[in-house]
Amino acid sequence: MATSVNGFSKLTKEEKIAWLASHHFKNKGTGIEILKQYWNSDIKLQRLHDEFIENTISNFYLPLGIAPNFLINGKYHTIPMAIEESSVVAAAGNAAKFWQKRGGFKTEILGTEKVGQVHFLYPGDTDKLNRFFEQVKPKLFEATQEITENMKKRNGGITSIILSDKTEDLKHYFQLHCTFETRDAMGANFINSCLETIAKTFEFEIRNSDAFNPDEKEIQIVMSILSNYVPNCRVRASVSCNVDELNADKGMDPLDFAQKFVRAVDIANIEPHRAVTHNKGIMNGIDAVVLATGNDFRAIEAGAHAYAAKDGRYKSLSQASIKDGVFTFSLELPLALGTVGGLTNLHPLVKLSLEILEKPSAEELMQIVATAGLAQNFAAIRSLITEGIQKGHMKMHLLNILNHLGATPEQKKYFTSYFKNKTVSHNEVIAQFNALKEKDDAQVPK
Ligand code: MEV
Repeated sequence: MATSVNGFSKLTKEEKIAWLASHHFKNKGTGIEILKQYWNSDIKLQRLHDEFIENTISNFYLPLGIAPNFLINGKYHTIPMAIEESSVVAAAGNAAKFWQKRGGFKTEILGTEKVGQVHFLYPGDTDKLNRFFEQVKPKLFEATQEITENMKKRNGGITSIILSDKTEDLKHYFQLHCTFETRDAMGANFINSCLETIAKTFEFEIRNSDAFNPDEKEIQIVMSILSNYVPNCRVRASVSCNVDELNADKGMDPLDFAQKFVRAVDIANIEPHRAVTHNKGIMNGIDAVVLATGNDFRAIEAGAHAYAAKDGRYKSLSQASIKDGVFTFSLELPLALGTVGGLTNLHPLVKLSLEILEKPSAEELMQIVATAGLAQNFAAIRSLITEGIQKGHMKMHLLNILNHLGATPEQKKYFTSYFKNKTVSHNEVIAQFNALKEKDDAQVPK
């Protein structure tokens, strides 16, 4: 049973596990065994993973899959994907193959600007603050000189600092809205360090200025933090072909397919319930590559969904159209990604994933990730408007049940064929599995 515990973080890993077992596991021995089964036998490698977070007791595996054949701007890519959901990698691979024969994916970077803000309260005259801000702005840049030096050498750094009056929405609330270029780094540490220095300098300058009365000098810095909403760090991926080339789905006329596809996207554009699931399908592809390359998928998710709601209503991130006999399908979203720093230098599988992608720059990775999202969205809509998604899902569901039953490779082959045109239900698989076992047992000579 859960109880309060003091000093848990100071316990050793073994002590933490022992505490956990005695308070939470019905069968202590089995629980501990499972946790340790997932430890890596290479002590150095395990220590590396232990130190990524706090209170580590084991590793939590996700499968790393590979989706080959992605033709992006005329160049082939093999995309690593870390994800637990069945069918996602297969769908990516299928979409890649489909578009490989129709000109491939096209991508473009629409911006790389990152954002950070100093949020503060100022109980005084706004004009005075505006005038003071313009005077003090060079000092804010100067104060960050040491932090920005290296980034500037790579053509990055702070690109603007703007004073923004938010008092209409919240009493006394202003912000220093700062923009950054962070090149191949995602830049979270860089941005936050710059912001904290800017905030301290700004507060110091106000408190020591003769321009303000004692009340006005009492500004309160509430917080200084990057924003995960980066609409100007955006990428576009698209595919297009003549409508009559959309001839891969048996029994469906290419124009009917194209029109139904566009309708499906239109529905996601005007119907938030559908839009959320539609965009979730996009994020299946995006998150899997973001995770495999050691980036922060929570930041990407938050930013993508905020962008989907930028017009005041939650909408599809992708668009589809038919014009002059040409079908076009595209995706635009903000992606603040890094290919240096953070986990990219630490996690051996992340390093390998980046090697599979041929060591991309952050901009190249943005384009690859957006492509994976578009491919995933294409595959999902294609399934939904043709045979439905359950057929593919059921195949994986069947394999999961068979694995659980300890089926041999031969048995898996037999049941995959047996259930090809039948409904897969848990009970039916178990019944058929047991029936086959009984038949096999009966045939074994006694
Ligand atoms: C499932 O993970 C994703 C889908 O629901 C996406 C969609 O409906 O477009 C298939």
